[in-house]
Amino acid sequence: MKLALKPFTEKDIPQFYEWMKSESEEMLTFIDGVTFGRPITIEGITNYHNNAISKKWLSFKFLVDGEIIGHIELIRLDLVAQTSAIGYVYIRRDRRGVGFGKKMLELLLLHAKIKIGLKYLDLLVGENNNPAQHFYKKCGFGYSGKTLEKGGTNMLVMYIKFKY
Ligand SMILES: CC(C)(COP(=O)(O)OP(=O)(O)OC[C@H]1O[C@@H](n2cnc3c(N)ncnc32)[C@H](O)[C@@H]1OP(=O)(O)O)[C@@H](O)C(=O)NCCC(=O)NCCS
Repeated sequence: MKLALKPFTEKDIPQFYEWMKSESEEMLTFIDGVTFGRPITIEGITNYHNNAISKKWLSFKFLVDGEIIGHIELIRLDLVAQTSAIGYVYIRRDRRGVGFGKKMLELLLLHAKIKIGLKYLDLLVGENNNPAQHFYKKCGFGYSGKTLEKGGTNMLVMYIKFKY
């Protein structure tokens, strides 16, 4: 099986939009913290994407044997402090629960550590998004103890530090 992360580009937006449209409001908020705007539109996702590009954030699609099944991104890159955060993390519904999310995140962590030389990554996860919290723990993330509110939802900060 061939697994790959490739740059997410504007032409990937319509497919991503279809996936977002199929999610419940609660799940959508867990995924984007309302940064795509509501209701979900192609324009809202495009604006988010253009803003990410202008800030030099790194957005990836995840492919399994050439088929796009997920998306993940590195945001708020700080090459001086060698830190970043993980933005939206998403595996297509019909491909969840069989290890692809973990593989996608592992590829991203490898890229962050080996290619960019980062030391620390964190992310926000919905306080009530227990499946995702469990998932991040399985992938080596721990709780920082910090919380913040985004889009009306309480979010927990989880983090990972790389050992060199
Ligand atoms: C979270 C998400 C990316 C996980 O991807 P996935 O492909 O389903 O996860 P995997 O199959 O790779 O599972 C990896 C580990 O996480 C655990 N896990 C995954 N989904 C889980 C769930 N719903 N409940 C409990 N544990 C779960 C698995 O048990 C597995 O552990 P194991 O290696 O010991 O078996 C995916 O479910 C998703 O896209 N969810 C919707 C969007 C979302 O919540 N994103 C996160 C926002 S912060």
